[in-house]
Amino acid sequence: MKNIKRIMAAVLAGAMIMAFAACDTKETTDDTSSAADSAVTESAASAQESAPAETAGEIKFATDGKLTMATNASFPPYEYYENEKIVGIDAEVAELIAQKLGVELEIKDMEFGSIIGAVQTGAVDMGMAGMTITEDRLKTVDFSDSYATAVQVVIVKEDSEIATVDDLQGKKVGVQENTTGDIYASDDLGEENVKRYNKGNDAVAALVSGVVDAVIIDNEPAKSFVAANEGLKILDTSYADEQYAIATNKDNKALTEAINKALGELKADGTLDEIVAKYIPAE
Ligand code: ARG
Repeated sequence: MKNIKRIMAAVLAGAMIMAFAACDTKETTDDTSSAADSAVTESAASAQESAPAETAGEIKFATDGKLTMATNASFPPYEYYENEKIVGIDAEVAELIAQKLGVELEIKDMEFGSIIGAVQTGAVDMGMAGMTITEDRLKTVDFSDSYATAVQVVIVKEDSEIATVDDLQGKKVGVQENTTGDIYASDDLGEENVKRYNKGNDAVAALVSGVVDAVIIDNEPAKSFVAANEGLKILDTSYADEQYAIATNKDNKALTEAINKALGELKADGTLDEIVAKYIPAE
């Protein structure tokens, strides 16, 4: 059987590519046919980067005085509800970006699959939702520099006979719809074997009740969901490496640049690390 483990270059735009070269895995994928949905390649990242800075112009905001962010707040520790408020790494980072831009942050919670469209139509200024850079998404939106790396992992019941990614063939797998986990699972295991849920947590509930045999989802939410449910575990073998970034409108390069500047400052002064450490305690 084909090696279904997709290894994607951990890529950032421009000079950052070198900084992340160390994170690149050695394995290569033999499945080049599905490149459209795989994480961004170096050439795509640098093509996106090559627009000259001086064409950026003024920042446009969907609503004056506000940075409007689309998210899907069912994805701990990046975005989730606590006492009716959306909290998490993305919410806190976005708040600081808005402060640096001198505007107020407004978060709009929506289905994950609606975020890209909301950015593309200009209904919101940015999409921030633990969102992975993929070549397919780059066709319709721009992405900021990456602010986090992630891994797609497999959750199974503790007593499951599924021990590696290869054992997933022929099994029922639950995913959050329109996520990269959905795309990989549908490509690799066949649509008929994939059950798509509105939220990652719904997929996990289906695993607990035995409707699906496994869930493919990002590593940090996976840890939260496993901690919140008895009898689940995460397989040691992971599925794919990814980069999270903020999606912006292709006609708003000035905003993308301003976000990158703000992110750069938050990285350089240790604020980003502090926020991450608050939500993801060291093991
Ligand atoms: N990283 C995955 C993707 O970009 C899943 C993100 C899901 N995020 C969320 N807030 N529900 O497709």
